[in-house]
Amino acid sequence: MTAPSTSRLPEPRVSPSVAASTNPHLQITGVTKNFGPQEVLKGVNLAVSKGGTTAIVGPSGSGKTTLLRLIAGFEHPLAGRIALNGNTVAGDGVWVPAHKRHIGYVAQDGALFPHLTVGQNIAFGLDTAKLSGGRRAVAGRVSDLLEMVSLDPAMAKRRPHQLSGGQQQRVALARALAREPELMLLDEPFSALDAGLRVATRRAVAKVLAEAGVTTILVTHDQAEALSFADQVAVMRGGKLAQIGNPFVVYTRPADRATAEFLGDAVILDAWMEGSLATCSLGGIPVRRPPAQGPVQLMLRPEQIRIAEDGDIRGVVVDTDYFGPETTVRLKLAVPPELAGRPDHRYPGGGEIITIRHWNASIARPGMELCLRVVGEGVAFPAEQGPAAGGAAPVTS
Ligand SMILES: Nc1ncnc2c1ncn2[C@@H]1O[C@H](COP(=O)(O)OP(=O)(O)OP(=O)(O)O)[C@@H](O)[C@H]1O
Ligand SMILES: [Mg+2]
Repeated sequence: MTAPSTSRLPEPRVSPSVAASTNPHLQITGVTKNFGPQEVLKGVNLAVSKGGTTAIVGPSGSGKTTLLRLIAGFEHPLAGRIALNGNTVAGDGVWVPAHKRHIGYVAQDGALFPHLTVGQNIAFGLDTAKLSGGRRAVAGRVSDLLEMVSLDPAMAKRRPHQLSGGQQQRVALARALAREPELMLLDEPFSALDAGLRVATRRAVAKVLAEAGVTTILVTHDQAEALSFADQVAVMRGGKLAQIGNPFVVYTRPADRATAEFLGDAVILDAWMEGSLATCSLGGIPVRRPPAQGPVQLMLRPEQIRIAEDGDIRGVVVDTDYFGPETTVRLKLAVPPELAGRPDHRYPGGGEIITIRHWNASIARPGMELCLRVVGEGVAFPAEQGPAAGGAAPVTS
């Protein structure tokens, strides 16, 4: 048996039905869940290694919270099995109640007890039997936990309604940390924080959890957060995990067009695949493991498309949008000259409008013609995927 890899290097694409680890802390196998007639989870398979960090991303209503509630033991699965450290906690006729699973759960709404102070809310999670030193020890631990989530220990005396939404979320996090769980489930815990605080709190929480060796599952709407926080990203769509893999793999080699577009901006062009080269309006782009020959859709990330000094690949600036650190530039692509004169060329593109980014706001003005070059490989999807199938509409990011 091989030990679970700790490498952050890209690994081969992981099919949803394959375990990500040989000795997982959490193993979910074929889990389904209905609410009345609605099938919310349609066969979820997921393995999370001990001490690992998994981010679950997916559109609203796709079943992310439902999956966390099943893991925590607040809901029963209809079918399938959930195991912790190799022991079944739900399924196969077994049911281990929530309080015996050693799981910390920070709900999407924080859910603090309104009648208790912040300090009492946090102390509620403490195992006071483990703390020698009575009240003073409890107060000390509450202060430590507040500092851990970047809150002033003086806030312990306040009540939840006297805190902002973001502060309440962090108290909920402190309360869950107080239990010293083996597995922490975080349902959008940073969503009420502003950008700067969000990054700082995320880093602080990730550090605390990593130092304590706590296995963590984070649900988030924020793709950048998922990619930076986790060593495994699971993309939920329509009650199933569409792709599971390390952040680099799911971002650069998404399994399908919807996943590509969910995880970030994507430039998608009609292309003609021959061998491992896709011909499109941006020229010939190498593709690793093409799914088909002939007509395909080619996906590139906007940062792969660079403005060049010269070259044959050209586009005319349609408009620009200034965002501070970068400017987005919309370009109408020309047919590459080596193909324009050849009526037999098979690629279906030309005239598409794509969006790229550049740091220099003054480099592009509407009407200017720019030369472009592509760095790295593209990803090809079968042509029938996605709304632009048939090549009718010019496709953009
Ligand atoms: N207790 C319940 N009773 C009935 N339907 C429910 C219940 N809980 C969730 N649902 C439904 O199940 C589906 C999935 O809900 P869930 O909360 O898991 O989505 P989500 O992915 O967490 O969404 P969001 O990103 O908006 O939080 C939704 O259609 C929701 O309305
Ligand atoms: Mg939710």
